[in-house]
Amino acid sequence: MLICGIETSCDETSVAILDCDEDSNRMEIVINLISSQLDAHALFGGVVPEIASRKHLEIIHSLLETAREKAHISWRDLGCIAVTHAPGLVGALLVGVTCGKALSFAHEIPCQPVNHLEGHIASNFLAAPDLKFPMLCLVVSGGHCELVLMTGFNQFQRLGKTRDDAVGEAFDKVARVLGFPQPGGPNLEIAAREGDANAFDFKASNLEPSLDFSYSGLKTAASQAQKKFPDRAQNIAASFQKSAIFQLDRNVRRALREYSAATLGICGGVAANGALRETMENTAREMNVDFVMPDKILCTDNAAMIAAAGWFRFRALPAAQREYSLQALSFDVHSVLPIA
Ligand code: KG4
Ligand code: ZN
Repeated sequence: MLICGIETSCDETSVAILDCDEDSNRMEIVINLISSQLDAHALFGGVVPEIASRKHLEIIHSLLETAREKAHISWRDLGCIAVTHAPGLVGALLVGVTCGKALSFAHEIPCQPVNHLEGHIASNFLAAPDLKFPMLCLVVSGGHCELVLMTGFNQFQRLGKTRDDAVGEAFDKVARVLGFPQPGGPNLEIAAREGDANAFDFKASNLEPSLDFSYSGLKTAASQAQKKFPDRAQNIAASFQKSAIFQLDRNVRRALREYSAATLGICGGVAANGALRETMENTAREMNVDFVMPDKILCTDNAAMIAAAGWFRFRALPAAQREYSLQALSFDVHSVLPIA
């Protein structure tokens, strides 16, 4: 079945078409178009919600049409439209959701709302469709830092979350203080490669016995170090990154032990970080569990992961609910939606 994914929750407009096998977990990405708004927000040092909505609106129609043309299909070939409806910037979400509903209504194709975090987690299945449950998934992005246990398709349990900043947000803010251009995370990673990770002893927060995270203290410590030692940006970046990853790794190890997971997965923008990928791979090996990670391009926001998560929800519906109905289009957008 062909599934069209639409993602507009933050500053990436993305449209994807996935070919999903009905009898197995196999999914093929036919097309995954991503248009980043990075330049539009660069001047302001962060995402401006009003600009994000307008930029989505400017490009979404041509992106949809290009995806359809490149996939050599007509809209009526689609079995389902999967669209991110939460969480995210409400005005930005509204653009994607309205387009998804309009396409659905015009061509009588069922429309499936998708939780953005379920989308990130689903990116692991694009790499390993038959991964073993329970999977412990580390969700690390600009807006989220969570440990989720996935016990089966569409079954999630949140084990831990950040009590303040998301880890990607901390990467971005420290990068800004150190004077690196946006996007902060990837540029901080590049600078860290040239620095000494042991130059500064930034303590990682420890919220034991919970599996929660905290990044505001580390962010402040790195900012204060920059004020004292303005010429040591690479060392501060390397020491910050080491401590940020240490905190993630410690909680992942504890959760793997406590919940007897069979697989460790990672996802979200920060999962594109090379040092984090290497650490998590080593941890999985040491703890004797399988390891999966999405391609780097599928770590940051994209519609292929939304189509995958939408497919998992859609195929679980009773046959009658898999038919197009106007009533099913009554879902709304939400800025926040807890995953469990
Ligand atoms: O998943 P994503 O595209 O958007 C959200 O849902 O938030 O994640 C974006 C976040 C940003 O904070 C960005 O700086 C971070 O992911 N990021 C990275 C790297 N690439 C992206 N952080 C550290 N190292 C990277 N290589
Ligand atoms: Zn995201």
